[in-house]
Amino acid sequence: MAREQVIQEGGVRGFGGLRVVALESRMAGESSRLITKAGGIPIEAPTLRELPIEENPAAMEFADSLLAGRFDIVIFMTGVGTRYLFAAMETRHDRADLTAALAKTTVVARGPKPVAALRELGVPVVITVPEPNTWREMVGVLEESNEGVALQGARVAIQEYGISNDELTRALESAGASVTCVPAYRWALPEDLAPLKDAIRQILARTADVMLVTSATQIHHLLEVARGDGVEDELKSALTELIVASVGPVATENLRKLGISVDLEPAHPKLGTLIKEASQRAPELLLNKRSGIVRPRRERPAGSGDAQQSVFMRACRGEATEYTPVWLMRQAGRYMQEYREVRARLSFSELCKNPQAAAEVTVTAQERLGVDAAIIFSDILLIVEPMGLGLAYDHGEGPTISGNIKSGADVDALREITPSEELAFVFDAIRLTRAELDADVPLIGFCGAPFTLASYMIEGGGSRNYVSTKTLMYRDKGAWDALMKVLTRALVDYLRCQVDAGAQALQVFDSWVGCLSPADYRTYVLPHMTELFSKLPPDVPVIHFGTGTATLLDLQVSAGASVLGVDHRVEIGPVFERFPGVAIQGNLDPVALFAEPAYIRDTAEKVLDDVGGKPGHIFNLGHGILPATPVDNAIALVDAVHTLSAK
Ligand code: CP3
Repeated sequence: MAREQVIQEGGVRGFGGLRVVALESRMAGESSRLITKAGGIPIEAPTLRELPIEENPAAMEFADSLLAGRFDIVIFMTGVGTRYLFAAMETRHDRADLTAALAKTTVVARGPKPVAALRELGVPVVITVPEPNTWREMVGVLEESNEGVALQGARVAIQEYGISNDELTRALESAGASVTCVPAYRWALPEDLAPLKDAIRQILARTADVMLVTSATQIHHLLEVARGDGVEDELKSALTELIVASVGPVATENLRKLGISVDLEPAHPKLGTLIKEASQRAPELLLNKRSGIVRPRRERPAGSGDAQQSVFMRACRGEATEYTPVWLMRQAGRYMQEYREVRARLSFSELCKNPQAAAEVTVTAQERLGVDAAIIFSDILLIVEPMGLGLAYDHGEGPTISGNIKSGADVDALREITPSEELAFVFDAIRLTRAELDADVPLIGFCGAPFTLASYMIEGGGSRNYVSTKTLMYRDKGAWDALMKVLTRALVDYLRCQVDAGAQALQVFDSWVGCLSPADYRTYVLPHMTELFSKLPPDVPVIHFGTGTATLLDLQVSAGASVLGVDHRVEIGPVFERFPGVAIQGNLDPVALFAEPAYIRDTAEKVLDDVGGKPGHIFNLGHGILPATPVDNAIALVDAVHTLSAK
């Protein structure tokens, strides 16, 4: 109770009674004392035990090579490790001989601690690495140094600290050096694992609030013990709910690589500073974290556990379903608070290119609304960047494209893209989303259709009359076809990669094609759409979407996608009559969501009645949900569709 108050009131001084797991071993006593002093309740969980010095053949081999003059550069990573290495070597050799041999090499110290240790030992240090002392500064300083050090061909020894630093090794090797790692000391798990296991239990039970990490090895050992008990994944997920404080960039980098995000890192990598800053910031950070953690989640009617057998996928295949599946175009967007919170941290394009964040908003939207499918968070325009045009999302003004296409020569200058490389972030986001979504929720991949993309590439943004687009189309059919072809090739490849990454259905957005006459559609668009759909995997449902397309539907269907998307300007019932065997997606006016819930329910019922329960209906809006839509109304729609259509 007292603890809850502390968290709720936020502003208290120090930890204010929070329970703090400390993984420190050598300084366990000291860290507990500091935690208590800062108002916290320490949970001591030592993770490491140092192995005896004699068990160090690597140190002996290093000494032999060093004395034989086989190294040009020797890097000391830690103070403790440097002393250990010397202690081990001095069991066989004279210190004077070792320091004399080192004096003939370039001695590099990673930070103040190895500098101090080397000074004590009488070893002259040639290069000191600046803060924050990671491998990046190390490589930087070696490359820039004017001490006559060349990495090309250099023989480098690295005193290791607990775990090997693969990135440093790789960076040095790619600069042409040959690298020998010298594990000066090795860490083992402590003999008594009970305190560590108890800390894990408390983290899992959510009775721990903060975890302090003071070395990278600690976290490897923590996870190793959790793995042994079969709770590694649960532990990682429980760690997202407490405050993880990391002593410095090396530990942080290791934590991130293991998928554990770090909430704070002190200004200086010191135990005392870590505890002080954690005590000042943890209560508030925790409050923010916990207030956002209970993602409200709408229950959907129970599924079979298999996305391929979900109501959405069956409806796409024209099969009967026990209720009508529903999802909303732009379901992850500004109308949703959770989305705006992520957007406060990341710009729109940063969000699109950050797989973790993109997956988060995708999954949050699906869970918050209780919809029957998720659509990967991304944008149709991202593809224009690797093709060679500029893309910017200026706040509130919609996207703008620079270097836009004016002529056939500009079309010829477009790049043929390799989506698996240039758009890899989309596929990473799909993989992450697939892993996070419930197994029975299908994931939709998507792209813009060639016409809609071409219109952005030519107009440089949104357009009212598509004057430039149609001018190029009418005046230079050769250039137009070349543009549509280069786009179609890229899109086929792009969509296939999305399927390979885990997308189970696809949607092609031809949002602006409704500006064309049927005759123009037939001449300038249809062949390319037919080509696009013919090249996609036949077992993956494809939704062919457009707006203002009432007069184009027959032509669109003839292009060959298995699902037709219709906006709210057409009556959906007759569309079903017209295209037997084609599944239909739509078609509530997005602005209906601004009305009363009772109206929303009635108008949803009207759409369902129009369809009359025929198989192959996917409920959706006629176009994307608008930013000012009340989220509760979107939820009311989803619930109404589920209840009204249940058989
Ligand atoms: O549906 C989803 O939840 C998936 C995400 C998605 C977005 N864009 C996110 C987005 C999808 C499927 C799209 C497709 C898209 N992008 C289309 C076709 C669909 C349609 O609405 O016709 C088009 C034409 C675009 C191009 C585009 N991107 C425009 C015109 C805009 C600006 C409009 C606006 O609302 O600001 C964007 C930006 C964009 N794409 C946003 C979102 C959520 C808003 C950006 C923000 O967060 O500020």
